[in-house]
Amino acid sequence: MEFFLYLLLSFVTLYCLSYIFKSRTATGSDAADKVRLPLGSRGWPLIGETLEYLSTAKEGVPEKFVTDRRNKYNPKVFQTSFAGEPMTMLCTHEGNKLLFSNENKLVRSYWPRNFVRIFANSEKTTTSEESIRLQKVISPFLKPDALQRYVGIMDAATKQHLQRYWNHGEVKVHPLAKNYTLTLACRIFLDVEDPEIIARLEKPMLQISNGFVALPINLPGTIYSRAVRASKQLRKDVEQIIKQRRISVNLENREPPKQDLLSQMLMETYTDGQLMEDSDIANKIFGLIVGAFDNTSTTLVSIINCLAEMPQVYDGFLEQMEIANSKGAGELLSWGDIRKMRYSWNVACEVLRLFPPVPGTFRVAITDFMYEGFRIPEGFKLHWYAFATHKSPEYFSDPEKFDPSRFEGSGPVPFSYVPFGGGPRMCPGKEYARLKILIFLHNFVTKFRWEKVFPEEKIVYDPLLKPTKGLHLRLYPLNP
Ligand code: HEM
Repeated sequence: MEFFLYLLLSFVTLYCLSYIFKSRTATGSDAADKVRLPLGSRGWPLIGETLEYLSTAKEGVPEKFVTDRRNKYNPKVFQTSFAGEPMTMLCTHEGNKLLFSNENKLVRSYWPRNFVRIFANSEKTTTSEESIRLQKVISPFLKPDALQRYVGIMDAATKQHLQRYWNHGEVKVHPLAKNYTLTLACRIFLDVEDPEIIARLEKPMLQISNGFVALPINLPGTIYSRAVRASKQLRKDVEQIIKQRRISVNLENREPPKQDLLSQMLMETYTDGQLMEDSDIANKIFGLIVGAFDNTSTTLVSIINCLAEMPQVYDGFLEQMEIANSKGAGELLSWGDIRKMRYSWNVACEVLRLFPPVPGTFRVAITDFMYEGFRIPEGFKLHWYAFATHKSPEYFSDPEKFDPSRFEGSGPVPFSYVPFGGGPRMCPGKEYARLKILIFLHNFVTKFRWEKVFPEEKIVYDPLLKPTKGLHLRLYPLNP
């Protein structure tokens, strides 16, 4: 028995050694051809360098993962491996520019297995023709001039949410921010206001979020399989809403009766003149709801947390008080008011610099090319990582300091500040997110003062960005 155990152990050790040896020569030095590949280490078999990548982020020093390797291998590019997937990391604004500006020329968007399966049948896995159609339908709806007409609706929905759920002295912000995000998405994308329907959609949403960072093992009972099931359920629920709405849309005069995204999509046709299919519409709206859910809610949480920790930042919100004082009873915010919220947006930008909810995404090389004297072969996975530039003193002096004035004037070096990514795959929800964050901030800072119930509570990447205890706040109404 002992002998077999010994034999097994030897095999495992040999396998590990051969893997490490292989990965080091592949990324290392001897054969002339291979020297030109970026240097680095692929770490351990299967897990690669995942643990260090995740633990540095969880400890609040994500830039350490990059700095250590920049110092060891090369200041601009190195190889690593996450969850067994070899990855080349680009760490400067030039690297970001290269990835963002060469979509479908040198690289294309690449999503890890978890995302592909959860988004299956959605935009992530459709053909490029369908992707272009998605852009055609979604982009006009999410542009600033199109979003202007939603300011009043978003303001009214925000006031209602704060009145209904936040007026209770002590609150747990993270779940409330998620519910608020979904409430607004349902209102703007689907024209749905019924809290019961929203509650029904929220359950699968929470499971989907967990699935993005779970091990991709699709066996009954795993977090991942629950997320895949939940994504199917959510699409079905959205499709049901679509079917009911199609009945009420007046197709005769081709005018959408309402202004929400669904109404517009119901009028959208394919190139052959056919109306879009319900399942297709459901996939696209599903993508937007999921895209908005975690990112905007955690951004709100991070902003509220920063304001609780730094009262001097809160004191700068004079513009919000002035806007509130200029309003008559019951008068809602206007687009003109949003344009006055410059300091508030600078605060949000600084929070997104230090706590980007999406710290990076991936691309895959679609052809061989050279970068900084290294060969990037076709098929290589590439990773841009916001912390590599956001926390670098090369781009942001005294990077740990919270300083919203960084975003005044011409702002940061192009491609160094990338919380929404860049290029053709840049987040299509950026303007919608900006509007929502500003409208929420206006209402929150003019309605409440607040303090943390657990002053030591932190916002961490675990592995998604979240407050360790949900962010408990004590709220003090300003005009009780
Ligand atoms: C503070 C809030 C948000 C942040 C920080 C954020 C960040 C990002 C980032 C970094 C990407 C990847 C970009 C790239 O790979 O170059 C992305 C993609 C995406 N985001 Fe956002 N996002 C936010 C809010 C939203 C909202 C509100 C929506 C929907 C209304 C949305 C929908 C999407 C979609 C559909 C994609 C995929 C685009 C594609 O693959 O072409 N996001 N987002």
